[in-house]
Amino acid sequence: MKILAIESSCDETAAAVVTDGPTVLSSVVSSSIDLHTRFGGVVPEVASRAHVEAINPVITQALAQAGMGNGDKPDVVAATIGPGLIGALLVGVSAAKGLALGWGVPFIGINHMEGHLYASWLERTDIETPLITLLVSGNHSMIVLIKSPGDYEILGETIDDAAGEAFDKVARALGFPYPGGPHIDKAAEAGDPQVISFPRAMPGDNFDFSFSGVKTSVMNYLRKNPDFEVADVAASFQAAVVDVLITKAFRAVEQTGARGLALGGGVAANSALRAAAEVEAARQGVELFLPSRSMCTDNAAMIGAAALFRFATDGPSGLEVPAVPRLRLAAAQ
Ligand code: KG4
Ligand code: ZN
Repeated sequence: MKILAIESSCDETAAAVVTDGPTVLSSVVSSSIDLHTRFGGVVPEVASRAHVEAINPVITQALAQAGMGNGDKPDVVAATIGPGLIGALLVGVSAAKGLALGWGVPFIGINHMEGHLYASWLERTDIETPLITLLVSGNHSMIVLIKSPGDYEILGETIDDAAGEAFDKVARALGFPYPGGPHIDKAAEAGDPQVISFPRAMPGDNFDFSFSGVKTSVMNYLRKNPDFEVADVAASFQAAVVDVLITKAFRAVEQTGARGLALGGGVAANSALRAAAEVEAARQGVELFLPSRSMCTDNAAMIGAAALFRFATDGPSGLEVPAVPRLRLAAAQ
């Protein structure tokens, strides 16, 4: 089965063709981030307009790269229906429904976070469930137990800021443009993570996260130390976030008896988090699934992978399914 998947929940217009495996036949990502940096964040209206301009060329390119340039049609068309910016989502959802209608093939709506869950499944064929996945993106931080494809339990999530949000806010305070995560990652390379001891919030003996405390602590530090070393602040902040994520993710593997740990979401592209996960996995003898960096950040291939699993269990969505800006992961089950 070939699925054409479309992703347009935030600032990336993406299309991919994915087939059984799941195997990526093509994946095209066009970002409008350059249009947003001077505003310090994604401007919804600007993102929507950029999606309108990019969507047709991106889909055409994805089909051509998959060898489907001559009017061949996929078996199913999938699109992210949420969570995300409503105007942005509607561009991808409308395009997908239009194509499905025109081709006479089924449409399926996919939860963006469910896509992130499957990033590593596109690159590894040896993944076994139950699996713990640490999902860390711009708006979400959660630990998800995948009991089997399509059957999830959210063991914990952030009670305030998401990990990516904390990275972006701290980066902004350090003078970096949006999105700041990659800049902190880079700046931290030259810093010492032990210079400043930022708090490691472990709310309760559960799997929830809280990152607003460490963010505030960095802000206070910057105010009290105007001559701060950017690299040391970046490295020390990053180390505090990574410590919490790694501690809880591995504890979840141990407590659930999962077969392994996978990472997903934009923050999973972070070098310190990836290195710490590798060290801890080797130390504890845990099987680790680390997607490549381009698979961690937003793309449509991961939406195609989720669509393959979901289509097999639930079938098509029907064209009446709406875009839902605050769609919960559980709502797609
Ligand atoms: O998953 P994603 O691409 O989009 C959402 O669904 O939100 O995640 C974007 C987030 C941003 O907060 C960005 O700063 C962060 O991922 N990010 C990183 C890195 N690359 C992206 N954070 C830390 N280190 C990185 N290398
Ligand atoms: Zn995302």
